[in-house]
Amino acid sequence: QVADVDSRVYGAFLEHLGRAVYSGIHEPGHPTADENGFRRDVVDLVRELNPPVVRYPGGNFVSAYNWEDGVGPREERPVCLDLAWRSRETNQIGTNEFADWAKLANTEMMLAVNLGSRDLDGARNYLEYCNHPSGTYWSDLRAKHGYRDPHNVKLWCLGNEMDGPWQVGHKTAREYGRIANETSKAFKYYDASIETVVCGSSHDRMATYPQWESTVLEESFDSVDYISLHRYFDNFENDTPNYLAKTISLDRYIKTVSGIIDYVKAKKRSKNNVFISFDEWNVWYHERENDSKRMKEWDWPVAPALLEDIYNFEDVLLVAGILNVFLRHADRVKIACIAQLVNVIAPIMTATGGSAWRQSIFYPLQLASRLGRGISLNVATRSPTYDCDEADDVPYADVSAVASEDGSTLTVFAVNRHMSEPMEIDASLLGFGGLTVTDHLVMSDTDPKTANSMQQPDAVRPKQGSGLAIVEDNRLIGALPAFSYSAITCRTAA
Ligand code: AHR
Repeated sequence: QVADVDSRVYGAFLEHLGRAVYSGIHEPGHPTADENGFRRDVVDLVRELNPPVVRYPGGNFVSAYNWEDGVGPREERPVCLDLAWRSRETNQIGTNEFADWAKLANTEMMLAVNLGSRDLDGARNYLEYCNHPSGTYWSDLRAKHGYRDPHNVKLWCLGNEMDGPWQVGHKTAREYGRIANETSKAFKYYDASIETVVCGSSHDRMATYPQWESTVLEESFDSVDYISLHRYFDNFENDTPNYLAKTISLDRYIKTVSGIIDYVKAKKRSKNNVFISFDEWNVWYHERENDSKRMKEWDWPVAPALLEDIYNFEDVLLVAGILNVFLRHADRVKIACIAQLVNVIAPIMTATGGSAWRQSIFYPLQLASRLGRGISLNVATRSPTYDCDEADDVPYADVSAVASEDGSTLTVFAVNRHMSEPMEIDASLLGFGGLTVTDHLVMSDTDPKTANSMQQPDAVRPKQGSGLAIVEDNRLIGALPAFSYSAITCRTAA
């Protein structure tokens, strides 16, 4: 066993960016909108993904966000400039509306505080506004705003990507480590059960990585619970085998930061344990150049279409590979948020006034979220390999496995990176007995660029793989189709 899978690895992220919030989750007047203007068609799809947490409100957005602008009577809320995305923020959705939506979507809030343009005071007031029952200025203000019951937010991000020079209020590691530590301490003076996430690097090619992690943790190790990592993947070079090998460096990234956590823990003789919150990850490149050009030219629009990447089949295999990496590191990675949830580099797309549909990458996340809860197992894999620019000896087969506590259920998640050849599976199910294959879902396509769209929402989706694998003499035997992702579930006979 590696560790119990923390179900929060199937979390998601929703930022005030583009059409994520406005006309993503919220579109009054839409045929499916409820009395609060939330799109029920989107909520239904979010529930299919079943994210246990959703991180909000940013992202780069949060580093110049005044949470006070988003609460209270809507007609009094200011329209503000969002410097991160060169847009106008109407503040018609804020913390309380997001809390309503989170309830509807059956998820928990993971809130980020602004440690870019603001400081500890703004953050602690926000906590008091959200969590204190009553009898203080901020808690009574929440009640006056119509929310008598506290939101009880237990998971807080201490800013966002503070290592990034693009961030409003960017800081050095030392500066940030200190304010993050002080903020985290203040949060825990209020409630020791609150969990906080300190910012690690924005990605593993930042000039300050990995020294940033070391310095920030030296300042904050004893007061925080998680360090955040972010990573976005691209296939700008249009080289599919190389693209699919990019999860190898994700694995290294997690191992390196785990090593730094252990180093700082030892150096500080600390009893505290810090885990990883991979709270932004996804593929992001399809619209990237186009978006940067458009943003330079426009005049502060409200909720413009931005970062609306359309995902294809090779993205499915990359996303499946990322999820496999997280599962194999279940002892370290306790939270992960796909970035983002709706419209903005997202598994769910909407047409304003029209339908909502599942992008190709929706499915590997849905399958893992549905079948990948339990105990992550150490999987010893032997597979043919290939060399590419990204790495040498990349195994064609990328595998993770999750079992139920009592050993009655086992799900194997397997990517076959080979573009033209199927791969044989012959797996010894050590420690299990009496299993049979009860469910086998497969995603495969000969064209890496097949994508779903509003017109063709089902071009990419899982299919039944019945007969492709069986259990015989306690071995799982079968085949992974070429260029595919499989989720094979085995159960003991009832
Ligand atoms: O998810 C899009 C952006 O990517 C986020 O706002 C930021 O945190 C990251 O750079």
